[in-house]
Amino acid sequence: MDSIEIKGGQPLHGVIEIAGAKNACLALMPASLLTDQPLTLTNAPRLSDIATMTQLLQTLGVEVREMKEGQVLSMSAHDIEEHQADYNIVRKMRASILVLGPLIARLGRAAVSLPGGCAIGARPVNIHLDALSQLGADIELENGYIMASLRGTALRGAVIKLPIASVGATENLLLAASLAKGTTVIDNAAQEPEIVDLANCLRKMGARIIGDGTKRIEIEGVESLKGATHHVISDRIETGTYMLAVAMAGGDITLRHGCINLLASFVEKLEEAGVKVAETAQGIHVQRGLSDRLQAVNVSTEPYPGFPTDLQAQMMAAMSISKGQCQLEETIFENRFMHAPELMRMGANIEIRGRTALIEGVDSLRGAPLMATDLRASVSLVLAGLAAEGHTIVNRVYHLDRGYEMVEEKLAACGAEIRRARS
Ligand code: UD1
Repeated sequence: MDSIEIKGGQPLHGVIEIAGAKNACLALMPASLLTDQPLTLTNAPRLSDIATMTQLLQTLGVEVREMKEGQVLSMSAHDIEEHQADYNIVRKMRASILVLGPLIARLGRAAVSLPGGCAIGARPVNIHLDALSQLGADIELENGYIMASLRGTALRGAVIKLPIASVGATENLLLAASLAKGTTVIDNAAQEPEIVDLANCLRKMGARIIGDGTKRIEIEGVESLKGATHHVISDRIETGTYMLAVAMAGGDITLRHGCINLLASFVEKLEEAGVKVAETAQGIHVQRGLSDRLQAVNVSTEPYPGFPTDLQAQMMAAMSISKGQCQLEETIFENRFMHAPELMRMGANIEIRGRTALIEGVDSLRGAPLMATDLRASVSLVLAGLAAEGHTIVNRVYHLDRGYEMVEEKLAACGAEIRRARS
């Protein structure tokens, strides 16, 4: 298994190109199942999660063509009959559940293995299943598979109140309800930018959707959808991660295509911690002087537009070398502090009390051999390694490759001493 080796202490200077958003792309790709015409996505990120979704769609009969080294994906579900999403693929990635809604809408049935993915809490799919059932799907669990079929002749619009503003369940509903008969209202919908991106793409395909980006989305079902070409929005989590890399290692970088208004709550915290952030014509410029110590700031993760849970691990790494004490509260997932013990092995002073991490900043971290446990935890350890004294080795980096495109190349180009050891 590959590992990442880092010699810490180098400031970062230069330009980093931000890729298309993984989480947007993973929701957009299943939209191809809704039409017999091609759906083309530009600005797709080159990540193993995207390769997993490609593989999943291919097993369902979708022809997927990759162009421009994987940055353009053209998907054609001209002739699909297969309705089974297999355990061997689905276990690798939770977002596989997003084929469920489209399969029911297009084929009237689906068999999707219960998903796997990052081990950051229980992460059930009950909200997806309840919501699709309210649209008219009969759903049963059999041998680890979700078996779904239509109760009547088609999905029917309904008013659905989500008990939690689940991102994935909102996406599954948007996809399925676009082809349902009548109007669907999603109450307490998630408001994440990736949902707006999906709605924008579905509208190009002929769907009738209003209210995306708010808590109440209305979808008027249409008979059929057509093909479209859509540019995936830029990855706000990748952007925030590199902003924290500069916050920790010092220096200044420009994040080309980074979009500051997708990160308002996060940027506010970063500025409070003493990092300089400016919007430029190219994207975002981030700067921290080497003699300026980061200030401790309290953070609580929230659904969008609040502080993203997907930046919590990286923020913890940064706060571990801040001046002062702070609290980091995780309100979205119940088991998302697995990076804390690894950071403590580097000398961080962190105490976990339930869903809150109490952090007392230390002057510096020390390099150590580390084990990556999930996607965002992995990158938080890379950031810690950049700022630490001495050598760090982050093992089990396949998690990193699920969500970060060429992370070591991007950082090395800005002066970091970082390399991948292949094994
Ligand atoms: C998506 C993102 C993930 C991000 C998360 C929260 C993708 C591919 N992944 O994940 O990176 O961390 O949003 O911003 O876009 N829940 C249930 N039952 C369900 C569904 C969710 O109890 O059926 C709970 C979850 O366990 C969690 C909370 O709801 O505690 C929010 O999860 P959700 O918004 O669904 O996250 P994902 O869509 O899985």
